[in-house]
Amino acid sequence: MKFFLDTADTSEIRELAATGLVDGVTTNPSLVAKSGRKFTDVIAEICTLTDGPVSAEVTATDAKAMIAEGRHLAKIAPNVAVKVPLTMDGLIACRTLREDGTMVNVTLCFSANQALLAAKADASFISPFIGRLDDQGDDGMQLIRDIRTIYDNYGYETEILAASIRHPAHVRAAALIGADVATMPGSVLRQMARHALTDRGLEAFLADWKKTGQSIL
Ligand code: G3P
Repeated sequence: MKFFLDTADTSEIRELAATGLVDGVTTNPSLVAKSGRKFTDVIAEICTLTDGPVSAEVTATDAKAMIAEGRHLAKIAPNVAVKVPLTMDGLIACRTLREDGTMVNVTLCFSANQALLAAKADASFISPFIGRLDDQGDDGMQLIRDIRTIYDNYGYETEILAASIRHPAHVRAAALIGADVATMPGSVLRQMARHALTDRGLEAFLADWKKTGQSIL
């Protein structure tokens, strides 16, 4: 499973990319606004911090303008994945940008039929928003399951990018279903490494090791 960081915070990306666990980055207009930086500058910097796909979202809403914005964003770096919303215009833009040879992430997916359309538009990634579905009492993970089944039924190569991940249990469930990618805040990636029994076990090992008076080097 690939892990993307869902942030436009370049210091956090730099820090976590150094772990070797990060395969790409996703941003959205809200995350860019939170960074307080110029959109194209922040995307250009992120593209130097990872070789993997970096999602940069268009803000136009009609296909023609989305294509123009997408082409502009794609020029920033070869690893830019243009993010378009799951609307009919977004799907048209997706097809055209894919024909240009640009990676496209179709975002704001909340139904299996929307995901089916994105695959037909040759999206590189489909982003179902698990957390936002859970927030309103729906079952986000069922959507991931449905998309996995549909894509496997027809051999679609669009990668399922589980998005709007709130906690490690979301990552675990998405991995069990076979989502290709999970995009998450840095805090979730850090939480995944933690376990109270690991801390307790390590403490006991180190205490016993100290008693031996030895050192490895
Ligand atoms: O970037 C897309 C998605 O991951 C947003 O998540 O937490 O705003 O629902 P969230």
